[in-house]
Amino acid sequence: MPVVVVIGGQWGDEGKGRVVDFHSRYCSVIARYSAGNNAGHTIMNDQGKFALHLVPAGIFRGDKAAIIGHGCVIDPAKLLEEIAMLTERGVSVARLMVSQGAHIIMPWHPIIDRADETLRGGAAIGTTGTGTGPAFHDKVSRIGIRVADLLDREVFAQKLRAALEYKNRVLTSLYGLPALEFDAIYREYLEYGQRLRPFVADTMAYVQEADERGEMILLEGAQGALLDLDTGTYPFVTSSVPASVAAGGAIGIGLGPTAIQRVVGVYKSYQTRVGNGPMPTEMFGAEADEIREGGGGVAGTAEYGATTGRARRIGWFDGVLARYTARLNGVTSVALTRLDTLSHAERIKICVAYEVDGNRVMALPATLAAMERAQPVYEDLPGWQADVTHARSLGDLPIEARQYVRRIEQIIGAPIDMISVGPERDQAIVTRDIFGASLT
Ligand code: GDP
Ligand code: IMO
Ligand code: MG
Repeated sequence: MPVVVVIGGQWGDEGKGRVVDFHSRYCSVIARYSAGNNAGHTIMNDQGKFALHLVPAGIFRGDKAAIIGHGCVIDPAKLLEEIAMLTERGVSVARLMVSQGAHIIMPWHPIIDRADETLRGGAAIGTTGTGTGPAFHDKVSRIGIRVADLLDREVFAQKLRAALEYKNRVLTSLYGLPALEFDAIYREYLEYGQRLRPFVADTMAYVQEADERGEMILLEGAQGALLDLDTGTYPFVTSSVPASVAAGGAIGIGLGPTAIQRVVGVYKSYQTRVGNGPMPTEMFGAEADEIREGGGGVAGTAEYGATTGRARRIGWFDGVLARYTARLNGVTSVALTRLDTLSHAERIKICVAYEVDGNRVMALPATLAAMERAQPVYEDLPGWQADVTHARSLGDLPIEARQYVRRIEQIIGAPIDMISVGPERDQAIVTRDIFGASLT
């Protein structure tokens, strides 16, 4: 049975949450494997509209295991808030499991996240300020505190004391900020540990056994390949270890690389980016505003961050980057989202190459400086200027919309099996079932 990874092919916010929510019906296990609550996944289904930051989008199918794997970092207060919100709204969390090996976002992490951004000045990354980056920094520095540590009073006391001794020096000497007190943090985080205890499990063993039983497992990526620490537009990237790209899925949940058989690349019909960094096809002014506010598609789906509320930067679909991310993720199937949003446009552009210093290139420029100088070479296609939100088969789409989808498919080099035409679960055209189960 396949393990399927769903990844973002751009700079995040491609619609991974809605794609996972759709496909999760065929799976027994849905698991997050990297990142923290810097992610924001929006799901609209028969139970309402939800923005999830840590809990996998499979939580809405009550009979599935929803797992937060050891590759994630967890802000316990935020996770408890999310659990309370779901419970209040009638979504069962009975099958939520949290890895004992996931790292904890501690109080100094958001403080350092913001202080680092201030120190970077004009070179600020535009992080989410959630402390995710500094928590991964502590993980690779080998001073991180993990979920299991919160469950043992003595171990936690010892680890917190050691971490604070180091972190308070950093806070006071480097940043000129007040030191943090041991007692208050110790009490607060021990209590979080007790409240999370019912969810804590050996998720690695659980997933491995589910895989051996032949159950279908869906791994929910966060961010996008262009934000990845190794493959993205460094240094304007996020800090997850393991990577948010598909290969990170195996590491972050505890499976071997051969377990992953399919990779769904989620791509928006145009580009968005929150935070700073190069974006060759970025557009500005009224043209960008129109798409940001939802374009010609479903009202109420404006492009503002699900985590920070920041306005997303907007650009035309970048075929150079899309092909690059499809290859490095081994994408076998594409979900193209938000086709409805472009319904207003008379003409639509697709970037098919860059001009860098007079040379035409089809690859990601090697340096940040070169990427900043890259001028997009566009193909110009006719728009469809018609409502597509009711389309449920390719034949329901205007010819211009089909041409646009086909051209993107050619450029990416993998089949587009799902096209979303609205944010609701059923607002999609699904042409090929990626699980081999029958489509109903
Ligand atoms: P994720 O982080 O990849 O899960 O994506 P986000 O949830 O952050 O951002 C995607 C946004 O697009 C959300 O507001 C979704 O509700 C919305 N969305 C997803 N698919 C569609 C679609 O086909 N049409 C429209 N109009 N909105 C969509
Ligand atoms: P989902 O899973 C979009 C961006 C931030 C910033 C950079 C580094 O919803 O697609 P960080 O706080 O991670 O250190 O910020 O990465 N970023 C995202 N952008 N979607 C996300 O997640 C993101 N997670 C981080 O805006 O540019
Ligand atoms: Mg998002």
